Formats: sequence, structure tokens, C-alpha cells
Amino acid sequence: MGNDKFKGIKAVGKDLLNRIKQYAGGAEPIFKTREEWQQWMSRQEKQSAKAVNSQNRGVKTENLVVRSGITDLYRTCTFATYKVTNDGQRIALSYAKSYADGFGTGFASFIFAGSVGTGKTHLAAAIGNKLIRHDKKVVLITISDLLLKVRECYAQNKSESGLIDTLCRCDLLILDDVGMQRGKTNEAVLLNQIINRRSSEFKPTGITTNLNFAGLSALLGERILDRLKMDQGIWVNFGWESYRSNVTHKNFKK
Ligand SMILES: Nc1ncnc2c1ncn2[C@@H]1O[C@H](COP(=O)(O)OP(=O)(O)OP(=O)(O)O)[C@@H](O)[C@H]1O
Ligand SMILES: [Mg+2]
Repeated sequence: MGNDKFKGIKAVGKDLLNRIKQYAGGAEPIFKTREEWQQWMSRQEKQSAKAVNSQNRGVKTENLVVRSGITDLYRTCTFATYKVTNDGQRIALSYAKSYADGFGTGFASFIFAGSVGTGKTHLAAAIGNKLIRHDKKVVLITISDLLLKVRECYAQNKSESGLIDTLCRCDLLILDDVGMQRGKTNEAVLLNQIINRRSSEFKPTGITTNLNFAGLSALLGERILDRLKMDQGIWVNFGWESYRSNVTHKNFKK
């Protein structure tokens, strides 16, 4: 069947090769026989298929990152861009890397807790960015955005169940800034509902928070914290100076 394609070439045979030589101004063509031409064509087809695939993959990954809710500031966050200048950062980085490397072998959750600007969201986003590149569905959402979306549902007379379904479907849900809206809203009820459902479906949840153990325990309740500990979930303390004064966005491109 493959040879039918080359019937024409075979028919003209030497004459075609001579004509190519003529048009090429005496230069030797890169293939001298039908077989060489065949091989060259097949190499070209493979190369262009590879280029198209890699282009599609790039676009797909980019779309997934955009849909994940990881904002511009954190889209470029990786383990490599997390600078280590103290033991705490070294431990936090190593936990975050191991978490990403071991993802999928169980359903462990993670909690990054500690003071402002220490890189909790950076490392959570680095985990997310890595997993997205490995075709996992990751959503990172701040609690204020989550509550805003719930309010939007109510404003449109819609139930928030569709939103909760989406958040429960992804492979990893990262809830950023848990505790920020404490006392103002129904944050605790909503988080209970989401984490409870995810853990009952063996899906992990990542949390970043400024609260300590007692604070998070008071907000979420022991039942939920216990669920986050399932399958050797990790708690990492971030207790050093804020890095924010070092951040410049001179080279930041939209
Ligand atoms: N060790 C680090 N190396 C490089 N960049 C860092 C490091 N720590 C933090 N950053 C950067 O500093 C900024 C603040 O970090 P991040 O937002 O992750 O802090 P956070 O702990 O989540 O703070 P908050 O509690 O206020 O939410 C980000 O731009 C982040 O990329
Ligand atoms: Mg943060």
C-alpha cells in the first residue's frame, strides 16, 4: 500500500532525478534513489508531527495553568526559584518537592502554616505547577475568591453546588489563605463541606494559612484536621522573615 504513493516517481525514475539536478543548478540532490527519497519524506513527516505535538502540549499546559486559577504572580513559581537561606526554608522546600514527587501514590494532604511572606503560596503553587505539567488537574483558590464566587452564585439565584462539584473533582485543590475571612462569613462551613467530601473520595487538599495549629483547629474543627492528617498528610511550619521586600517585578511579563 505504501508503495502506491511512489508509483509516479518510479515511472519517471532516472528522468526525475536528472531534472532535479538540472533545476538545482548542478548541485547534488539530497536523495539519489527512490528509497532515499522515501526515507527523507518519512523523516520530515515525523519531525513535523513532533513539532505540532510539542506546540499543542505547550498550549494545553498553558490553558490548564490559566484554568487552575494560579495567578500571574505564582505561575512562574517553581522549586528552583525558591531561595534557601535558612534551615526552615530547606526543610519546607524538601517537603514540598517530596510531596509533588510522591503525588498519586496516596492521597496525603498538606498544610503550610506560618507568618506572612515566607513562601507558603510560592511552594504550594510550585507543587501545582509541577503537577499540571504532569497532566494533573489542580485548582488553587484563595478563600476570599472562593467566598466571592459563592456570593455570585447566590446573587444569580443559583446553588453553590456546581462550584463545590468543580472543586471536588480536581486531583489537587489548594485552598490559599485559610483563616483570612474568619468571623466574617460562613468560611468554616464551606471548607468543612469541601474537605470532608474530598477526603471521603480519597482526594487530597492543600492549605496555606497564617493560623497556628490551635487557630486552624478552632476554625475547621478537629474532625476536619484529622481528615487532613489521613494517609500521612504533612504540616510544615514557615516561621522566618518575610521575603516580600526582596521581590521585584521589573522583569515580570504579562
Ligand atoms: N524563599 C523564597 N525564594 C524566592 N522567592 C520567595 C521566597 N519566599 C517567598 N518568595 C516570594 O515572595 C513573595 C511572597 O511569598 P508568598 O506569597 O508565597 O508568601 P506567603 O507565605 O504565602 O505569604 P502570606 O501569608 O502573606 O500569604 C512571592 O512573590 C514569592 O514568590
Ligand atoms: Mg500566601
